[in-house]
Amino acid sequence: MIIPTPHSVKYTGGCLDLSGGLYTSTGIPSLSKAFHKYFPEHGSNAVCVEFLLYNPSIGEEGYVIDVNSEKITVSGDTEKGLFYGLQSVVQMFDYAAKRNFMLDCCSVKDFPEFGYRGFMLDCSRHFFDTDVIKKLLDACALLKINVFHWHLTDDQGWRFESDKYPLLTEKGSERACTRGDGIPVKGYYTKAQMKEIVAYAADNFIEVIPEFDMPGHSVAAIACYPELSCTDERTEVKTRFGIDPLIMCAGKESSYEFARAVLGEAAGIFTSDKVHIGGDEAPKARWKDCPRCAEVMKKMNLENFEQLQAVFTNKIIDMLKELGKTAIVWNDSMQYADIDKSAVMQYWRAKEGEKKIAQMINGGRKTIVSKFTPCYLDYPYGMHPMKALYSFSPVLKGVTDSGKANVLGMEVPLWTEYVADEKKLHFMAFPRLVAAADVAWAHGRNRKYRAFLRNLENLYDRLGSLGIEPAPMHEAKKGRLTGWPDVIKFFANAYDKQSAAEFVAAQKESKTK
Ligand code: ACM
Ligand code: ZN
Repeated sequence: MIIPTPHSVKYTGGCLDLSGGLYTSTGIPSLSKAFHKYFPEHGSNAVCVEFLLYNPSIGEEGYVIDVNSEKITVSGDTEKGLFYGLQSVVQMFDYAAKRNFMLDCCSVKDFPEFGYRGFMLDCSRHFFDTDVIKKLLDACALLKINVFHWHLTDDQGWRFESDKYPLLTEKGSERACTRGDGIPVKGYYTKAQMKEIVAYAADNFIEVIPEFDMPGHSVAAIACYPELSCTDERTEVKTRFGIDPLIMCAGKESSYEFARAVLGEAAGIFTSDKVHIGGDEAPKARWKDCPRCAEVMKKMNLENFEQLQAVFTNKIIDMLKELGKTAIVWNDSMQYADIDKSAVMQYWRAKEGEKKIAQMINGGRKTIVSKFTPCYLDYPYGMHPMKALYSFSPVLKGVTDSGKANVLGMEVPLWTEYVADEKKLHFMAFPRLVAAADVAWAHGRNRKYRAFLRNLENLYDRLGSLGIEPAPMHEAKKGRLTGWPDVIKFFANAYDKQSAAEFVAAQKESKTK
């Protein structure tokens, strides 16, 4: 009946007739607003939904629902818990609507297994306007996802308006073409629009974590401000996919001035106590030939370029600390050198095996798990099947019972080089995001994939009414056997001789001593 799988549902006998709809007279403004969004009108024989903030000791995000033959009562310790209770009531109503509006009387007790339940959208490769994002936030709320990770900058486009570095949006927000579709991409978010998204997300109890990817994936910024690179070279916002060897210089003060200014401006917009600073895929080719980078290496007695990246990253982490923020960093840059203990690791790939990642987690590194397979939603269903995601454990093999406490939760990213519009975005993200939400909320419970599929069908109409068009069920159910032709098609379309050659060259050049 409810996704994500609730902790417990006990049937108490009898049923409640919901044919007149639901109403509430709650005096809690956030709940009243959210309720009326779902149930704007009702009949004269509507059933009352009561919201009680009273302390059932169910945790910050938990709730209790009691359905008896007269009314529905939702109680929780916090407004957030009540809000999640409302999301469950919405799904219970939809379920009953398909059964003559009869809802079985029951008692639901629920709370999440993980505190971090995230969805990441890459708005650099393709740009998505605020209306698209608001719809996604609505869907996230329904699924009890509580983090929207906003990937705002990359080689292929800078989307964050900055007063101090205006070229970032004047020039850096435009890409002449994309490998995927040959069509130019442009667009950025004004400060007012970003604040609007933060407020909209907050109404849905979702935290927005912006990402400023550094020192790699910063070609769009370097195209505007060449002094950010080791070589001051002139370049354009990247038109192809792949890892670029052009990265920010770790020895120049201009890089740090830039980071300080942008992060300072971001702190005025984003209320989350976390900021993602990227750190993934940073080839060291330019650093090897840079006298300024060499100077830092010498001065600090560094043995390799991974340590230099750690120096860079730790400086950015310190800047964030001054702003009262904690950094999140992709795991690439964390496993070879010492990164400040406060930083959260986001695990996506384990070049040296997952054992190392598990060791880091056991050693105290707070971690968000986004393992490439099956968490990356930009790959076809035949490659990262929904069932694989549903069965995924964010608690990796080798993570001990005490290490488990360091797993903050799970996030599924959607990279958008091959996602040119909202229709494709919905197709790739839904319904896999529903399966991911179920894992993040209910991992370890008695979950059954068949029951999940039945409940998912129930959810399709609701997602539709939120303006979301998921992949049809037969597509979503594809596994690796049935979906392989789609995988071949995907890679045939994605294959790009020039990007592949650049990738191989970058890999070669990035080999550190
Ligand atoms: C990543 O996929 N480069 C984090
Ligand atoms: Zn340099």
